[in-house]
Amino acid sequence: MTHDVSHSVSHGVSMTAIPDLSGRYDLYGAIHKGLRKAGCDMLCRIGSTDFENPDEAETVLGNLRSFIVFAASHVMHEDEHIHGVLRARGASTTTIEDQHDDHRAAFATLEKLASDIEKAWPMHKQAAGRKLYLAFAAYLAEDLAHMHEEETVTAPELWRICTDEELATIEMHIVASMSPEKNMAFLRLMVPAMNPAERAAMLSAMQQNTPPEIFCAIIEFAVRPSLSEKAFSDLSDRIALAA
Ligand SMILES: [Fe+2]
Repeated sequence: MTHDVSHSVSHGVSMTAIPDLSGRYDLYGAIHKGLRKAGCDMLCRIGSTDFENPDEAETVLGNLRSFIVFAASHVMHEDEHIHGVLRARGASTTTIEDQHDDHRAAFATLEKLASDIEKAWPMHKQAAGRKLYLAFAAYLAEDLAHMHEEETVTAPELWRICTDEELATIEMHIVASMSPEKNMAFLRLMVPAMNPAERAAMLSAMQQNTPPEIFCAIIEFAVRPSLSEKAFSDLSDRIALAA
């Protein structure tokens, strides 16, 4: 079965965006909800890990590295596909670009602290884990503030200078720039972070505009595994998923 969710791009379909409360096309809402949830989950996991236990440490550091790949990809997508549009139409990107530079520096620091844990003597591993926990908390605090800036300052600026069709095109380009597997992985971050109505709206749009075999792959590989049985059943009721 093909998993080519980016195929939906050729149908002129938004894969991820849902309208914000004012009805405008919201490039940030769904993905930022996913990144906020993933960041908060990650912080709690680092804080509760026994870094003297090699298996536990290996698992959480692997998860951290995956998180950094997603967060770095997201920053790159915004740089490449959104900031150029803002600048071309006279809007400033200085604040959000500086914040992205700070994020890139934080990713390098987090990677260094993760590798320090791996290299530390057993008696020093908990202390090295504490350093990683504090650094991740500081990064997450900056990222939460940054995403707030994008959703309260940058998004209204985008709505002022772009039509919804132009914003949908930006998103289609972002989706098309990623492999099908990465699109699936981003969906797995977003789907459990959305509320039931948002989730149903996004998947209903995908259901209507995506070939059935691709939509089926999205449900089986991205949606079902990321939801509780109750949440999946609620979604099935809302958008009439086939059994
Ligand atoms: Fe950003």
